[in-house]
Amino acid sequence: MTQNILILPGDGIGPEIVAEATRLLNALKDRFGLAVELEEAPIGGAGYDAAGKPLPDETLALARAADAILLGAVGGPRYDQLAWELRPERGLLAIRSELALFSNLRPAILYPQLASASALKPEIVGGLDIMILRELTGGAYFGKPRGIQTREDGVREGFNTIIYSEPEIERIVRSGFEIAMKRDRRLCSVDKANVLEVSQLWREVAERVAKEYPEVALSHMYVDNAAMQLVRAPKQFDVIVTENMFGDILSDAAAMLTGSIGMLPSASLDAGGKGMYEPIHGSAPDIAGQGVANPLATLLSVAMMLRYTLNEEAQAARVEAAVGRVLDQGLRTADIWTEGCRKVGTREMGEAVVAALAD
Ligand code: NAI
Ligand code: MG
Repeated sequence: MTQNILILPGDGIGPEIVAEATRLLNALKDRFGLAVELEEAPIGGAGYDAAGKPLPDETLALARAADAILLGAVGGPRYDQLAWELRPERGLLAIRSELALFSNLRPAILYPQLASASALKPEIVGGLDIMILRELTGGAYFGKPRGIQTREDGVREGFNTIIYSEPEIERIVRSGFEIAMKRDRRLCSVDKANVLEVSQLWREVAERVAKEYPEVALSHMYVDNAAMQLVRAPKQFDVIVTENMFGDILSDAAAMLTGSIGMLPSASLDAGGKGMYEPIHGSAPDIAGQGVANPLATLLSVAMMLRYTLNEEAQAARVEAAVGRVLDQGLRTADIWTEGCRKVGTREMGEAVVAALAD
């Protein structure tokens, strides 16, 4: 069955890095029998330029109809003066909420070839390969009531509500178990159950869902300890599942363990496993149009798409192996370049990965 992929290049370096993803998908199609059709649509500033809003109606309709979505990045100084509702970033938030993409997967992988790029000692981060699963549509960022109010005594106070229903907890925790099943079968649920009632409920639900996944070892950790452990001994983790705000903070910390923003992919999935895939970095206006951006985070996002939405594990592994080979060959874009390696541009890197695809 042919699956439809919607490609949203966006702004800045978005079109440059996404062009390499298209090259890769076409190669998988032509040489390795991947059954996909590709379509492209504008989002972000490009959406505003084309249709007057960051998420044009036609783009949203195509996104709903697609099996999977690949996004470059949105935003740029050209759009900074626009009203809040018209800003490129609104297009991204809108598509995430319209498609109910509640499950945000952020791997932190340190390629052995890039070990010197990390701020941590090689023995601590060498070979790091962990997955942080962040709940994306609930918790403090969305909970009501919220606001800033003035008390009777004249003192102002701000407040937000961390609220999670049992079904919301269950679906993200279930995602965690499903992902753990495709990896090393260890799931760490991170919460603050010693202080927060919402975390107590979270733990209870996690324990209940765990009974359906006897092959997966479930553990629990308080978020403050998890932050410490991520820096002290990150390789103890396989998959971490946590609520929105804890996940926001922990996933950024974990990303920086690897020291290379141009290397990290991400996925945001709905309840049926349909998803949007994108590099974690932004539109990099400072290097846009120069052909020097690192396309590997985007190519690795394609690998995640193959694994988590298209159910093409062998193709996913093929892409990841090709990236490994290209790094072995010593090819580096400027952001990951070190002495003794060969500096290449976006296109040369993309072509090298395609050339390194193998059976
Ligand atoms: P950024 O991630 O775009 O750039 C940060 C730094 O990393 C820059 O020096 C940039 O040149 C470098 N960089 C990023 N991706 C790279 C790549 N693939 N290869 C080599 N170097 C790379 O973050 P920044 O500067 O804070 O934001 C720029 C714009 O991107 C803003 O408009 C922001 O709102 C938007 N943005 C969009 C995101 C998205 O579309 N998901 C995420 C983050 C920011
Ligand atoms: Mg963040």
